[in-house]
Amino acid sequence: MDKITLVKSSQLTSPNPVTVVCTQKPDGSTNLATVSWWTYLSFNPNMVAYAMSKRSYSGEMVRQNKKVILTVPGAEIAPAVLGCGCTSGRDTDKASKFNVELTDVPGSDIKIPLHSRVAIVCHLKEYHEVGDHYLYICDVEQVYGNEQEQALFAWNGYSEIRPAK
Ligand SMILES: Cc1cc2nc3c(=O)[nH]c(=O)nc-3n(C[C@H](O)[C@H](O)[C@H](O)COP(=O)(O)O)c2cc1C
Repeated sequence: MDKITLVKSSQLTSPNPVTVVCTQKPDGSTNLATVSWWTYLSFNPNMVAYAMSKRSYSGEMVRQNKKVILTVPGAEIAPAVLGCGCTSGRDTDKASKFNVELTDVPGSDIKIPLHSRVAIVCHLKEYHEVGDHYLYICDVEQVYGNEQEQALFAWNGYSEIRPAK
């Protein structure tokens, strides 16, 4: 085997499942950010985690509100998912910029993309500094699914977003 970097390793392990992290902005609108560093943690109790750059606006919002919805986006919004991973909610309304149709989730004031295969409604339990990222550890409150939507994956690191099939 060749000695490689961890960045190269993340490319060799692609495709990686992609989520769109949905948080609420102070004006009540929803911010969308693309995240592939996420994982299930526990089924009893239900818990998930994801890592986001310390600079991300989504991180600021979840640390403030303690609420977040992780969605697995459907194939129809692939270009928008790439766009949501290249812009910040700090200065952009990503849902309107990338024409992402949003829908309500029962019991939550955060909206999600209509084209979602899965939505995991979470409460932030704790977060930890991990190098240049924060690791957000979440309790899962509700989970919704739509098998008609085809899940998206990130290929070659972050460079391409498409289904795995
Ligand atoms: C396919 C893809 C996957 C990404 N995965 C992550 C990730 O796991 N963690 C992260 O911090 N940023 C990730 N990003 C970059 C963020 O989406 C990007 O920094 C975004 O601008 C953050 O938006 P925000 O400032 O509105 O939170 C990814 C981008 C793409 C295109």
